[in-house]
Amino acid sequence: MLSSKRILLGITGGIAAYKTTFLTRLLIKAGAEVRIVMTESAGDFVSPLTLATLSKHEVLHSFVREEEGLTDWNNHVELGLWADLMLIAPATANTLSKMASGTCDNLLLACYMSAKCPVLIAPAMDLDMYRHPATRKTLDTLEEYGHGIIPAGEGELASGLHGEGRMAEPEDIVAYMENYLRAGQPLTGMNILITAGPTHEAIDPVRFIGNHSTGKMGFALAEAALELGASVTLISGPTHLQADPSVRLIRVTSALEMYTQAVNAFPEMDVVIGAAAVADYRPERQAREKLKKEGESLELKLVRNPDIIQALGEQKTTQYVVGFALETQNELDFAKGKLQDKHLDAIVLNSLKDSGAGFGSDTNKVTFIDKNFTITPFELKTKAEVARDIMHEIHKRLPK
Ligand code: C5P
Repeated sequence: MLSSKRILLGITGGIAAYKTTFLTRLLIKAGAEVRIVMTESAGDFVSPLTLATLSKHEVLHSFVREEEGLTDWNNHVELGLWADLMLIAPATANTLSKMASGTCDNLLLACYMSAKCPVLIAPAMDLDMYRHPATRKTLDTLEEYGHGIIPAGEGELASGLHGEGRMAEPEDIVAYMENYLRAGQPLTGMNILITAGPTHEAIDPVRFIGNHSTGKMGFALAEAALELGASVTLISGPTHLQADPSVRLIRVTSALEMYTQAVNAFPEMDVVIGAAAVADYRPERQAREKLKKEGESLELKLVRNPDIIQALGEQKTTQYVVGFALETQNELDFAKGKLQDKHLDAIVLNSLKDSGAGFGSDTNKVTFIDKNFTITPFELKTKAEVARDIMHEIHKRLPK
């Protein structure tokens, strides 16, 4: 959610200002561009040089700056317009009160007054100040202005007292920002289930039958659904990939485990996408001990696994169910056949004939086919872009 977002971070003079170094790092790691403006007293608690180094931008604190004899003006209006989101952390009682009353006696407050973007506030102060009626009233006013208040936490305070007033931890601030940005997105309130990766079908405790799927496409779909505001459940077979912490990730090994998890999650879902390369067969029996080499050949009897997406296609009531088809010949015909046989609403075809498409690569070339057989082909793109295209096609077809 924060990728490429322009964040204007306003830091005021409280001891929690030291945490803004971690906060800045987290924001940069999440792909945001961060510019920092601080009050005069914030500089007593955290070094502007540290923050400039972390944010890769000069840290601003006054209306004018004098460099090598030149007098320059820090344009608060430009900064206020530049930002996609302004975050004031820590926000002291003094700054909060000035924000509520419209006092504008420093660059940070001028930026705040000029900001056209959403404003989030992370208050931080001692417990008596935090529960003072003046602070309560101020926070109510700021909420009425439409700003998001990131609740202060409870714990040990710098004064030695114990109670409410600690600035929220940087990780919690980032999670709050992400949720805030997600709200009001096209798929907000929608539950999306995605299956991803290969499955491993055990032969004995150390061997399995598997395939070359890496899970990249399914994880990219999870990311794209998240970007559109959906709540995402990702059921993944064995892979080294990590999902965004906001994704409910269920790791499984075999097709049967994936089936059980998918069927359990299904009733709550609005959309299901089967991107997993599920093994069609599993060994009939799993040896309890490691199989010994004996004789010149070994026969394994395989039995059919349930077809997960087909089972969900048959059970669906209001859900929109999408499958994938990886084909090497008569691609369109086979894909259309699967769409019908598995009772799907749409199918995403990728042809192994296309170079740059398929397992392991970072790119893919797909064709989206819906149940009316409307065919939408896409160019070779990164899997992240392909995932956005697929989510866009699904979103267009969901009931409004
Ligand atoms: O029939 P085929 O395996 O080509 O179909 C691929 C589609 O079916 C994919 O969406 C895949 O995730 C799904 N599938 C499944 N369970 C299986 C086999 C395939 O969900 N056992």
